[in-house]
Amino acid sequence: MNGQFRDTPHSTASSASQQAHVAGDSSSQEKAAPTNSFLPQDDRSVTSAVVTTAAATPQAIPDNLVPDEEEEEADEVDAASNLAVGPPRRALPSELYTRIAQVGEGTYGQVFKAKSERTNVLVALKKIRMEAEKDGFPITAMREIKLLQILKHQNVVRLHEIMTARGSVYMVFEYMEHDLNGVLNHPKVHFTPAHLKSLASQLLEGLGYLHHKAVLHRDLKGSNVLLNNAGLLKLADFGLARLYAKGRTGDYTNRVVTLWYRPPELLLGATQYGAEVDMWGAGCIFLELFNRRPIFQGTDEISQLQVISDLVGPLTEERWKGMESLPWWELVRPHEPQETVQDAAEAQETQDQQHSRRRLSLFETTLTPGALKLAEALLTLDPRKRVSAAEALQMDYFVKEKPKARLPSSVLSSLKGEWHELESKRARQKGRA
Ligand SMILES: Nc1ncnc2c1ncn2[C@@H]1O[C@H](COP(=O)(O)OP(=O)(O)OP(=O)(O)O)[C@@H](O)[C@H]1O
Ligand SMILES: [Mg+2]
Repeated sequence: MNGQFRDTPHSTASSASQQAHVAGDSSSQEKAAPTNSFLPQDDRSVTSAVVTTAAATPQAIPDNLVPDEEEEEADEVDAASNLAVGPPRRALPSELYTRIAQVGEGTYGQVFKAKSERTNVLVALKKIRMEAEKDGFPITAMREIKLLQILKHQNVVRLHEIMTARGSVYMVFEYMEHDLNGVLNHPKVHFTPAHLKSLASQLLEGLGYLHHKAVLHRDLKGSNVLLNNAGLLKLADFGLARLYAKGRTGDYTNRVVTLWYRPPELLLGATQYGAEVDMWGAGCIFLELFNRRPIFQGTDEISQLQVISDLVGPLTEERWKGMESLPWWELVRPHEPQETVQDAAEAQETQDQQHSRRRLSLFETTLTPGALKLAEALLTLDPRKRVSAAEALQMDYFVKEKPKARLPSSVLSSLKGEWHELESKRARQKGRA
């Protein structure tokens, strides 16, 4: 059997779970992850196929990539050659990767930190989960590879190559020490306002680039936003991403985006949507930077809409024309609040006054006026009125308000350890034990 990994004594092979909070989203349901087995340390005689570097010479993966079962079983290298962005070649033993630790446990595969023996460069190996696939190569991985091949930007994670080992296919990425979820859960991380501005601007730069390239991410959340010790932020996890038709109304699935980051139009069943779905996610992440916890934590679609309207104001036809004609309006619309004795005074106020009082009591102390305006512009209920990434970057928060953005390299590089969602979950579990 072929293979090109060596296990190190530090490696872990956990199957820690995640995403249990994502109710009603089949795309995020967890699958059991078998423990990965790697070659013993002294087995260097084997080689494997490595697909040439995607980032250097991007070429399209053919659409008919999916191998039939017979081919797949006959020769694992052939499966990779179907994937080839250039002709696959035999890897030299010096091109082995040494696995260091597991850093991610996603729906579609495990992610390992590893080191190239030839260059000593750190990489992230995302193992593509094939066990559950009856019909060949998984569509999510194929989508991710195809899209990453056309993306090249400092705020989008770089895919180096695709390779096979022991019948598994791996995506080889540049390594990022942290993700936003892990870092925001770390009690010792204290970003300054200038750092937060830098993170927000990098997030929007990355999104602006994606949308310019007509790519929708459709799964923005803290664990899909990577950070490195230089303070750079990069968007990752393109498993739900797709190309979209700009200026035209597409007809896409609404079963995308993790519940807490899902925009109201998708919660109401829209299938014609565009870049605005990602801008809502950016708004959630922007407030999460200050709040340190996800901002809208519903338990299902109905409660998600409720927590949204509690914070940003009620869903009214006046604020969002056409909302009531969305497919699931009658099913999931928030209920009118019951009037209680305590509410009697509130009843005197206009809806907008109520809204403004609720919002300000939550964020007035943490956000500057410019930051608050940006949050409101991103978290606008009506997708047609929601700000785009390019527009957001021109708002006062970035161009007029002080302080100027500053890369959070000092905070991140001085952190003890590396903090992804997985490590942060493990630390919390350990703390509770
Ligand atoms: N290039 C990388 N460098 C370091 N860590 C990474 C890298 N890519 C991914 N990770 C870590 O692995 C985790 C899972 O990766 P990713 O989100 O790509 O997989 P997934 O299976 O699609 O995840 P999910 O379905 O949970 O969103 C990320 O949240 C991140 O913590
Ligand atoms: Mg992910």
